[in-house]
Amino acid sequence: MKLLQKIAWIVTALGAVLNLYIYTYPSLDSTQCYWSHEYRDLTTLGAWEKAIVEIPYFGDLYKQYFLPDHAKNVDMQPRDIRIMAVGDPQLNGNWPNTSYMKRLDNFGNDYYLRHVYETMKKRLDPSFVAMMGDLVSSQWTADSEFFNRTRRIVSRSFPRPEEQCSAELNIISKHEDIDWWTYLQNFEDNLKNDVFKQREFYEFKDVYDWYNGTFIDPSTGSNTEPLFLNVTGNHDIGYGDTTYQHMARWKALFGKVNYWIEYDTDTDHPWRIVMLNSLALDGPMLEPELKTYTWQFLEALESTHYKGSTILLTHVPMYKRAGLCKDGPNFEYYTASGCHGCSPSRVGLLKSQNHLSQETSRRVLDIVFGEGAGGIILTGHDHYGCDNYYSFVDEEKGWVAEKNITSDKWIREVTVRSIMGDFDGTMGIMTGHFNQNQKKWEFDYTQCKFIVQHVWWAARIMALLAALLQSLTFLF
Ligand SMILES: *[C@@H]1O[C@H](CO)[C@@H](O)[C@H](O)[C@H]1NC(C)=O
Ligand SMILES: *[C@@H]1O[C@H](CO)[C@@H](O)[C@H](O)[C@H]1NC(C)=O
Ligand SMILES: *[C@@H]1O[C@H](CO)[C@@H](O)[C@H](O)[C@H]1NC(C)=O
Ligand SMILES: *[C@@H]1O[C@H](CO)[C@@H](O)[C@H](O)[C@H]1NC(C)=O
Ligand SMILES: *[C@@H]1O[C@H](CO)[C@@H](O)[C@H](O)[C@H]1NC(C)=O
Repeated sequence: MKLLQKIAWIVTALGAVLNLYIYTYPSLDSTQCYWSHEYRDLTTLGAWEKAIVEIPYFGDLYKQYFLPDHAKNVDMQPRDIRIMAVGDPQLNGNWPNTSYMKRLDNFGNDYYLRHVYETMKKRLDPSFVAMMGDLVSSQWTADSEFFNRTRRIVSRSFPRPEEQCSAELNIISKHEDIDWWTYLQNFEDNLKNDVFKQREFYEFKDVYDWYNGTFIDPSTGSNTEPLFLNVTGNHDIGYGDTTYQHMARWKALFGKVNYWIEYDTDTDHPWRIVMLNSLALDGPMLEPELKTYTWQFLEALESTHYKGSTILLTHVPMYKRAGLCKDGPNFEYYTASGCHGCSPSRVGLLKSQNHLSQETSRRVLDIVFGEGAGGIILTGHDHYGCDNYYSFVDEEKGWVAEKNITSDKWIREVTVRSIMGDFDGTMGIMTGHFNQNQKKWEFDYTQCKFIVQHVWWAARIMALLAALLQSLTFLF
């Protein structure tokens, strides 16, 4: 009996430490795991409080949970831009032949992602959550499977208030195949009538909430729930193999693929978010009109001659030489000989690409950043994460990527590391801060790493085991 008690207490202690760790891990690396600018007024604290705040880890916990109201969030104008970026979650699905172990793993993975998401959301209170594409692991699924994974995304892994996704949940529970035929007819009409050439088709203003202000705090004007921005990834809609079915179901559940939102237009600090579907820029494509549409979007964007700062969100990174990131430049095309997902109609189409082509990258950078006041690019795709600067060298060479800045005109590109367990459950944190002296937006990015999924599993299992053993010691 003594032995059982001993074991119970050891397991309980271990479980407590592990759980303390998984719930407070960002405090261990508090500068990487927070916005670049803090608006807490620590000068009003008493002497001993000031001392506590200086202690690593504990100081950060104190600031999060015990800070008196008068020291919390001093308002700054203009407010910082706060985006939490989620890289490539790639939710897997179960097939009839999927083993029970793998099913359990998929189930646990949903909650692992949720743990990272909720811990960081609570800590950061972001205005925006940018889903950097590849929300699901494969574009070759039927609508039913796409619905089921989307339900897991919106209600299990990245949960949000039901009012925010009731339209999507309705579609999912109806569970009828997507009416891509109507989508296609609308699409063709738009193309024929030059609707895709009009900026009104893509332009939004000062959106912090897609739900008529339900999630806006009237006293501060800031949002109480983050605005979700969904970037299309190759596993969501495909590369050259993208069909209208892919496009229709993405639109129904995750919104438009190409658009921009302008903020604070008539002020001294205008800025915008540009959402770009980078899977339909290079091709060749099964449906070449999708490429036409995306280029028409870019031309409409160019016609705005925007003078503010831009945050570009897109899945595939811009061209860069090999050696700068895990992925070097690489293009693959479907061939006739046996490869996964091949059919005769696919031969010759774009099968995968690590970067956009050099020519396309130049066009995109010129269009998005040619005239304005700079900005930042966030991408996904490579899982490992990467960080580079595109400097505009001259008219001939264009924008050249390097680890450091080599010209007056430059743009930082961050490839957001994946949130998957194998990549440490990383969350990307982007802050935009308006420098009042220089009258310009400054963008900063850090990544907050959690830990491989097994530790999270261990914490959960230890907690269960501890509860079980402790109840046994009562019984015997
Ligand atoms: C499971 O079945 C699918 C087809 O339904 C097949 O493509 C896949 O290879 C199978 N997986 C395993 C592990 O057998
Ligand atoms: C999706 O979920 C529904 C309801 O739970 C189920 O009937 C259907 O078989 C699932 N689809 C797939 C492809 O597993
Ligand atoms: C917002 O309000 C308009 C007009 O009342 C309504 O048609 C629309 O459905 C509402 N949208 C949402 C997301 O609640
Ligand atoms: C992004 O996807 C979520 C979940 O489906 C949806 O609620 C949200 O409205 C989407 N965002 C946009 C801008 O469409
Ligand atoms: C840029 O980096 C390279 C190597 O990393 C270094 O040799 C070079 O001096 C740097 N240039 C500037 C302008 O800092």
